[in-house]
Amino acid sequence: MRIYREKDYDAMSRRAANLISAEVIRRPDCVLGLATGSTPIGTYKQLTAWNQKGDLSFREVRTVNLDEYKGLAGTHDQSYRYFMQTNLFDHIDIIQENTNVPDGLAADPEAECARYDKLVESLGYADLQLLGLGRNGHIGFNEPCDRFVKETHVVDLTESTIEANARFFASADDVPKQALTMGIGCIMAARRVLLIASGADKADALYNAVCGPITPQCPASILQLHSDVVIVGDEAALSKLADAGVEICG
Ligand code: F6R
Repeated sequence: MRIYREKDYDAMSRRAANLISAEVIRRPDCVLGLATGSTPIGTYKQLTAWNQKGDLSFREVRTVNLDEYKGLAGTHDQSYRYFMQTNLFDHIDIIQENTNVPDGLAADPEAECARYDKLVESLGYADLQLLGLGRNGHIGFNEPCDRFVKETHVVDLTESTIEANARFFASADDVPKQALTMGIGCIMAARRVLLIASGADKADALYNAVCGPITPQCPASILQLHSDVVIVGDEAALSKLADAGVEICG
């Protein structure tokens, strides 16, 4: 694992965008695994700026998103498809047909999960998979549980995730209770994983992911077994790792 420390959210976003753009420049038709949530918004803003300036093209890029709320249409303003459109896809030169997010409205969610796994496999898995980190250590919506689930699956969101995401909805009652999420298999099959984290409320999860035991109770801890993981965090998110003397660049 390589861990980069940046002084704040903006610097973290810029560093993450740099790493993603390096991948796109190196391999213009790469497959990017993408995440939603508050953490990647600045990264997507930076990528959009470079694209609009003409410094970076997504013309040949294919994307696979990690997850989607079950029961939300892609047009719902809290769906992850809508998030991706408004924070990235609508503003860059990507071909919309080359962007993929699980269908939260699929009549048969299990079949949709199987379709999604086949799709990601048919694309050859992500060249670079961007991940945020849940305060409970989740990646995608792989919540803490008693086993790592390999396949894309329907998951019951934990109370802490529902609470954390309630800020985007009128109330916690409006937060969907289930999601479709890529499993650990597709995430670990990515050639490179880029995990970004910002803020003191991620410090414990990040510490457990990097230094704790590899356990499905902290799903991100599985990344210790991946051979190419880059973590970019701001000072607050990395504080506990720094205190523990973990080697950090920057
Ligand atoms: C979203 C996702 C989640 C988020 C995580 C952190 O696609 O996969 O794992 O990355 O919940 O969310 P924020 O960035 O809002 O703290």
